[in-house]
Amino acid sequence: ASRSIRITAPWRSIRDRQPARESHAVNPRFLSPSQLAAYRRDGFLVLPGLVDDTRCLALRERAMELARRHVPEPAQATIFTADGRALHASDEYFLGSGEAIRCFFEQDAFDASGRLRTDAHLCLNKLGHAMHDLDPVFDSFSRTAELAAIAADIGMQAPLLLQSMYIFKQPRIGGEVICHTDHTYLWTEPPSVVGFWFAIDDATTENGCMWALPGGHRLPVKARSRLNAARTASELEVLDPAPYPAEGLVPLEAERGTLVLLHGALPHLSGPNRSDRPRHAYTLHAIDGVADYLGDNWLQRPTLKLRGFNP
Ligand code: FE2
Repeated sequence: ASRSIRITAPWRSIRDRQPARESHAVNPRFLSPSQLAAYRRDGFLVLPGLVDDTRCLALRERAMELARRHVPEPAQATIFTADGRALHASDEYFLGSGEAIRCFFEQDAFDASGRLRTDAHLCLNKLGHAMHDLDPVFDSFSRTAELAAIAADIGMQAPLLLQSMYIFKQPRIGGEVICHTDHTYLWTEPPSVVGFWFAIDDATTENGCMWALPGGHRLPVKARSRLNAARTASELEVLDPAPYPAEGLVPLEAERGTLVLLHGALPHLSGPNRSDRPRHAYTLHAIDGVADYLGDNWLQRPTLKLRGFNP
């Protein structure tokens, strides 16, 4: 059992504020029984060809444009390290990004004197975290009948799209992401977060594809990220100091248009991109509206209403 405590007033859970429910009974089922069994057994499911190239490339174009449009001033810029810490950052820039479209840079994006090595939009780590609600191209990519059906198939009763990230994993400087679970960062009780990860470029072991631990979603989650008392920064509360198993992870290579479903308690990571090919990906994190989303999670949506997968 986690040692987390639930904070209610004055930060009510998202469910209390936004009881947006959508029926899953109206959608046809999408996954086959064997696909569902594999998801339950492994904690992930790779679905090649879910999105056609045209839509992937349109999202890619849009992400590049948003990157150019939203590049922050150097003083605001947040850099991401492999363990998810934000450096040199205005924490406010990060903590307020749950309701915004903001740019986060690679650790290697800056030279020794602190200047960007190349154009800002070419050294971004990611865009986050509300493109799916604030940009029409991301909105329509993120909300389809297929995705609604898949969410229903894996047992989500009232899915809510909480967070979107467009990850650039740039050639040569694209950083690694160490082993973690998404539930650590988007904590609900009971656990409910699911990652919907889309390959926008082909992802291989050379350019930093994801790796995951089959069956690892049955292990206890080892940490919880939560806001400090002043709500000015997030801190990692360690629940179990033993590291994740180093053996047994499998690469999730994925061609453009592949959807990878990731159970929120599944340990996963991605390597650095030292190749000369980009590895763009788009991730949506959905929670179940029937679970409690805790008020001391870093991502809060005080004004922007959460919606599900239905267009
Ligand atoms: Fe993740």
